[in-house]
Amino acid sequence: MSDRVYIFDTTLRDGEQSPGATMNQEEKVSLARQLEALGVDIIEAGFPAASQGDFEAVQAIARSVSHIQVAALCRALTKDIDRGWEAIKDAAHPRIHTFLATSEIHMTHKLRKTREQVLEMAEAAVRHAASLCPNVEFSAEDASRSDWDFLAQVCEVVIRAGATTVNIPDTVGYAQPFEYGELIAYLIKKVPNSKDAIFSVHCHNDLGLAVANSLSAIRAGARQAEVTLCGIGERAGNASLEELVMALHTRHELYKLDCGVKTQQLYPSCRRLSQIIGQPIPPYKAIVGPNAFAHESGIHQDGMLKNPLTYEIMTPESVGRKGTEMVIGKHSGSHAIKSKLTELGYVLDDAQLAVVFSAVKELADKKERVFDEDVEALVLEMVYRRRDKYRLKDMSVFSGTGGVPPHAAMVLEVLDGEQVAEVRRHTSFGEGPVDALFKCIGSMVGYAPALDRFQINAVTGGTDAQATVTVRIEHEGKRSVGRGTNEDILVASAMAFINALNRLEKMREEKSECPTI
Ligand code: KIV
Ligand code: ZN
Repeated sequence: MSDRVYIFDTTLRDGEQSPGATMNQEEKVSLARQLEALGVDIIEAGFPAASQGDFEAVQAIARSVSHIQVAALCRALTKDIDRGWEAIKDAAHPRIHTFLATSEIHMTHKLRKTREQVLEMAEAAVRHAASLCPNVEFSAEDASRSDWDFLAQVCEVVIRAGATTVNIPDTVGYAQPFEYGELIAYLIKKVPNSKDAIFSVHCHNDLGLAVANSLSAIRAGARQAEVTLCGIGERAGNASLEELVMALHTRHELYKLDCGVKTQQLYPSCRRLSQIIGQPIPPYKAIVGPNAFAHESGIHQDGMLKNPLTYEIMTPESVGRKGTEMVIGKHSGSHAIKSKLTELGYVLDDAQLAVVFSAVKELADKKERVFDEDVEALVLEMVYRRRDKYRLKDMSVFSGTGGVPPHAAMVLEVLDGEQVAEVRRHTSFGEGPVDALFKCIGSMVGYAPALDRFQINAVTGGTDAQATVTVRIEHEGKRSVGRGTNEDILVASAMAFINALNRLEKMREEKSECPTI
């Protein structure tokens, strides 16, 4: 059996299903390139049949990376597979990933199909996918709650039909490490043609066991692990890429298995994700959380000073953490900013560089110290933002404890491509300054979406830190997430709300064709 574990990153597909983690096409491409730099083997770029937007994003990703495999997720339906293939066929190394549920509960209540029908569908889907692409993965959804003998039968049939990877997901995070390992060992032994495919694992974290289950499966012979950065994903998330990789790395003497991930790129990759989705990495997050290498207790500090091995099983440097550095001041030139961007992994053309340069200088005039995180937040704001319908031109907000209720005045531009088609002005009162702002924006766009999440995070420390505001809005059954970054939290709030509206407008244009997984 091979001593190489393939890392399949699904941050852009299963990860994006995490509440609040929606990314636009430009952000997805930027993250895909970072994942390539990280050294994963396969990225799952999305689910092209879900909507026109998903299709275009998968296609753009497929055309932007060159060394890694790009997978498209498809239901076990000819039309989904054709659409998926259309989206990835330009990739240097495309992979069709088709899936079908195999547990009794899913087959009876969700699919309303018998075992025989599921076997037939799985076989037909894989056969069709293999006629288009030699690299085909089949996932038996809810495998961990499926009948083991039936699952073995499904594996045998799909391998015979051309699947080169067979994925055994713990879709609902139900499995326990020892039984999941036993299941993988059982399948590899029982399926007569198991040596013709790589067995893969895909674990969800509902009981907090996603990484433990994945490692147990790897010990039992699985050689592909499906993971996401920071473990983001549906419900409690997926197995975390950085945890799994560092477990294999730190305990190499135990597993004796390698993967192609460059561990020094782990922290930069997770930080990039956090910046894009506007959600901070939780303090206690293993490997990449702010506290992961912080030693507070006196005894620990004493031990660390005497020998770091006393309390550190890996070094911060090994996962790419150098500590936040002050990089740019108001006297920094474009050369310094360009080399900082290159160090952070951004390749920008001259026009993009000019935009970022002037934004950084503007920020450096207002803020004492500009950190790496500030520069990254500006790049994401200025370069990877979608062509919008609405753009904030000017605003002012009044709030306080006096008799005058909080109110906001705003000038909003309505864009037609690059051109400003119309300028709208309005003033509104509200319960507080944010309420006044959102009411003002609502009046100008002609509808008032419900706000169901509002979150502010400081990009760095200090009272002059930039703030990233994330909002989630809902209108006519459609949900959208928006983010805005600015040194003024009210401006960041308005930008976030307008960003969410722009995304909502885009969604209305792109009408989802089928539910997400
Ligand atoms: O959790 C799951 O079963 C999935 C499959 C579609 C691979 O995400
Ligand atoms: Zn999943």
